[in-house]
Amino acid sequence: MKATFRRLCTLLGLLHYGAATVSLPGDWTLVQQGTTGVSALELAVVSETKALILDKVYERASFFIAKFKHELTNMAREHNALMIDDHPAWGVEVDINTQEVRVLNPQSNTWCATGGFLSNGTLISTGGSPIRIDTGQDGLQALRLFTPCTDGTCDILEVPTRIRLTSARWYPSSVRIEDGSSLIFGGSTNTAYINNATINNPTYEFFPPKNINGFNGLQIFSQFMNDTLNGNHFPNLVYLPDGRVFVSANTQAMIFDWKTNTERRIPGIPNGVRISSPFSAGHVLLPLSAENNFTAEILICGGSTVNDFADPLTLTAQEPTSSQCIRMAMNEDGIAKGWEVDQLPEGRIMGDMILLPDGRVLIVDGAMTGVAGYGNVADEIGQSNADNPAFMPVIYDPNAPLGSRFSRDGLIASTIPRMYHSTASLTPNGSIMLAGSNPNADVSTIKYATEYRLEFLSPPYMAVERPSYTGLPATFDFKSRITLDVQLPEGTNDVKVALMDFGFSTHGVHMDQRLLYLDAILSSDKTKLLVTGPPTPALFPPGPGFLFVVTDRGVPSFGHETLVGTGASPPVDEDAIANMLNKTTTQPDVPSS
Ligand SMILES: *[C@@H]1O[C@H](CO)[C@@H](O)[C@H](O)[C@H]1NC(C)=O
Ligand SMILES: *[C@@H]1O[C@H](CO)[C@@H](O)[C@H](O)[C@H]1NC(C)=O
Ligand SMILES: *[C@@H]1O[C@H](CO)[C@@H](O)[C@H](O)[C@H]1NC(C)=O
Ligand SMILES: *[C@@H]1O[C@H](CO)[C@@H](O)[C@H](O)[C@H]1NC(C)=O
Ligand SMILES: *[C@@H]1O[C@H](CO)[C@@H](O)[C@H](O)[C@H]1NC(C)=O
Ligand SMILES: *[C@@H]1O[C@H](CO)[C@@H](O)[C@H](O)[C@H]1NC(C)=O
Repeated sequence: MKATFRRLCTLLGLLHYGAATVSLPGDWTLVQQGTTGVSALELAVVSETKALILDKVYERASFFIAKFKHELTNMAREHNALMIDDHPAWGVEVDINTQEVRVLNPQSNTWCATGGFLSNGTLISTGGSPIRIDTGQDGLQALRLFTPCTDGTCDILEVPTRIRLTSARWYPSSVRIEDGSSLIFGGSTNTAYINNATINNPTYEFFPPKNINGFNGLQIFSQFMNDTLNGNHFPNLVYLPDGRVFVSANTQAMIFDWKTNTERRIPGIPNGVRISSPFSAGHVLLPLSAENNFTAEILICGGSTVNDFADPLTLTAQEPTSSQCIRMAMNEDGIAKGWEVDQLPEGRIMGDMILLPDGRVLIVDGAMTGVAGYGNVADEIGQSNADNPAFMPVIYDPNAPLGSRFSRDGLIASTIPRMYHSTASLTPNGSIMLAGSNPNADVSTIKYATEYRLEFLSPPYMAVERPSYTGLPATFDFKSRITLDVQLPEGTNDVKVALMDFGFSTHGVHMDQRLLYLDAILSSDKTKLLVTGPPTPALFPPGPGFLFVVTDRGVPSFGHETLVGTGASPPVDEDAIANMLNKTTTQPDVPSS
């Protein structure tokens, strides 16, 4: 195989630098197809065909009763009709193509947990609600493992005596770091519409636990999470190409070096806009490529200027939301320039920002007024703290000139409100899966009802002839070279290769979402594509990735899955684990409200 290869990506990049992203024009389609059985509070694509969905458990079972197992089976419930082990289910695996649902059986309360993958392909779901369920477990220190399988037998594994968080975390965030571990950040110790000094957990920790900076397996104080009260639930975390972590919460931002435990404050959010829960803006890392010198640019859209110390009873579901959309490059130049301010067509909170394989960003779902949550504001709509669902998505083109980056050409509005506790994700085939919405304490049919219906939003590229390829190995190591056999639609001159992490979606926050363009050289006969793995683990932390071959018209192939790196598990420090187990308990003291 010594066909001549042309270095097309570089050429393509140069040609299009400063010009709008190449994307296929045309009409989008939206279909409602299938139901999820539990409401999709958390969503992650876990294979080429399956997605994991987790819901919450609302009803508190008395710990006394739980302990002595009196008629317990129906105590724990989100009154979903779907059952498992004689109690309502709150977790499923759904087939993306057939929408067939397989019930899962988590043992702890997943309500407002975070999640993400480790380098070996196992998904971890961490933290959750203090509300105890019939197993006697709450979710606060839970660490749930889910290793995707193809035979329909995998379930969520929990072993709290050995595998748990060091401290209570409701509404934490997480990010996969370059050694394939997870960094878990913030959260609070008890239930609330918003965080406050009494319930704040201003710390972070690693899984697997590390002996680092003098903290042997235990949690580490974060000044930033102490300084960003009250509105700092679900902080935005992005792993940066230099191995540090972008963090934003409330009105502030920093670059965090986990290796040295140092924080560097960077310009805060302009114009007093708050961007984390319950004022949930969306955030995304824009695509990384050699053409932009792998410069990380962060985009944050929406939020609210509501006072985060206000009693929620003084707020209404009609509070205006922010249309501010800000962008900054995470290098000295970018930080010196500060945030560039743009405007969405309308205000939005709880929107989901989805990276598309063509390099653009879809902003979908959420609400145009109010705040996140339910049961708090003076004039709840049903129980919702928000009103005026944002039915109409909008596209952001990072390469278009400022002032013309937003477009709705060909887009289509939904009629299904997807506000608090809704989720969205790109699928391996390039469509966008929309799920959930439940601004209610339990399953409800009142206005802004519990939503089980799935929708699939299909960009115009779904309707044309698409490229295809074979030859992606099960693991794809950094800097390694692979040759794919490609079949390109007639008229294709160039291709790009987009390696994507679809992330973990909850509360309009997309943990770990990422797009890295790989170095790729097409053979002169356009049948072979020589692709080089990510240059460094910081550019794409080792773990699951979906690889799309994208034509010069902006049409992506199916995104096949590989494990970036070697597939090895993240480092395990037995001493740090022993110390963590020795110094922490499985059940934190929870105020008894
Ligand atoms: C903090 O939140 C908790 C839980 O909602 C509440 O009981 C407490 O009063 C709040 N404290 C302050 C200082 O607002
Ligand atoms: C953390 O926040 C609390 C409450 O706002 C404050 O009392 C305490 O002094 C802060 N600690 C540090 C180290 O900043
Ligand atoms: C690209 O990034 C590297 C590392 O961040 C830096 O050393 C180099 O100067 C950058 N090159 C350009 C052309 O900006
Ligand atoms: C992917 O989408 C195309 C439409 O572009 C469709 O024909 C094909 O069946 C889909 N493949 C899978 C595996 O869903
Ligand atoms: C991945 O690593 C974690 C942490 O050590 C471990 O619990 C899990 O079993 C591993 N998964 C696989 C598939 O090896
Ligand atoms: C557990 O901690 C106690 C005191 O903090 C110490 O005496 C003991 O040696 C520790 N055990 C292990 C196994 O680390």
